[in-house]
Amino acid sequence: MGHPFEARVGANESAFGVSPVAAIAMRKAVDQLAWYSDPENFDLRSALATHHGVRPEEIAISAGIDDLLGLAVRAFVEPGQIAVASLGAYPTFIYHVNGFGCGLSSAPYRDGRNDLEALADLAQHPDVRLVYLSNPDNPTGTWHKASEIRQLIQALPKHCVFILDEAYTEFAPDDATPDIHPIHPRTMRMRTFSKAHGMAGARVGYAICPAAIASGFDKIRLHFGVNRIAQVGAAASLTHTAFVSDVVKQVETGRDAYVSLAADLGLLTLPSATNFVTFDAGSAERADAILERLIENRVFVRKPRVEPLDRYFRVTVGRKDERGVFAERLREIVKGT
Ligand SMILES: Cc1ncc(COP(=O)(O)O)c(C=O)c1O
Repeated sequence: MGHPFEARVGANESAFGVSPVAAIAMRKAVDQLAWYSDPENFDLRSALATHHGVRPEEIAISAGIDDLLGLAVRAFVEPGQIAVASLGAYPTFIYHVNGFGCGLSSAPYRDGRNDLEALADLAQHPDVRLVYLSNPDNPTGTWHKASEIRQLIQALPKHCVFILDEAYTEFAPDDATPDIHPIHPRTMRMRTFSKAHGMAGARVGYAICPAAIASGFDKIRLHFGVNRIAQVGAAASLTHTAFVSDVVKQVETGRDAYVSLAADLGLLTLPSATNFVTFDAGSAERADAILERLIENRVFVRKPRVEPLDRYFRVTVGRKDERGVFAERLREIVKGT
């Protein structure tokens, strides 16, 4: 479009930067950039294992959840077999399913949430090998309680494995996150440094999963796929818990501000346990019009395209100044739509 955005609030990145502790560690790591990264991700894997109270063999590290999703589809679903996800779920999973030539079976969202019963029903088909759920969810921001997730896991047949994408877990209430123990034999919990840790550009994420799955990923993953700076930065960020807690607090403040703004403008919002808020424009046409005008007015936001989510647009919690720009432009636009 020939001009930069004034508020980049469309990709659910962190607006609150990287931990200064991680930044120092990463700058230092530049001096060792002549060396390949550690293909075993030994230090980071050990740190994550200690952090979660699991064995290092139960951690699989890769270049973000996006990369792990591809490994999971490649490892578990043959062309002709089927993966299950909500209709309009996080698109990267679907790209991998399509890219590896697998079938997709989808259940529509219900009342702005993933329909866990419908997903479990679809999973009963004998050709299903993989079931995907993000909790808290993107693109809605809504979540299910740990007890409901456990029920879903129980309901899944033995012929499929389950991906629980927990990219936004740091922002969620405690009762939205099932205990790590015991590690379920067919479940991969996926986490990332891209959101609360503010390291989306570094590309580092991990799965907490049975050792047999992690060692399976070792056979097919890119050997040096997680670069040296990302490994060092993630390990350092993990130690800086005060930083992450502060980000979570700032995100809560921003979410509240968005909810008040929406109420002021007569728009509904979905409850959110993430770093974004999903606004309800009332109809797909109006949501499209608002999105288009926001983008023209230098505010980067995104929206889902499939029913019944297409009446929503999704706004990442930005810094206070970015929230101000977004609020000002949205007020103008909503008056005219
Ligand atoms: C549900 C969900 N999973 C995964 C990701 C991407 O994670 P990563 O940056 O670790 O690949 C996102 C990013 O928006 C997301 O919303």
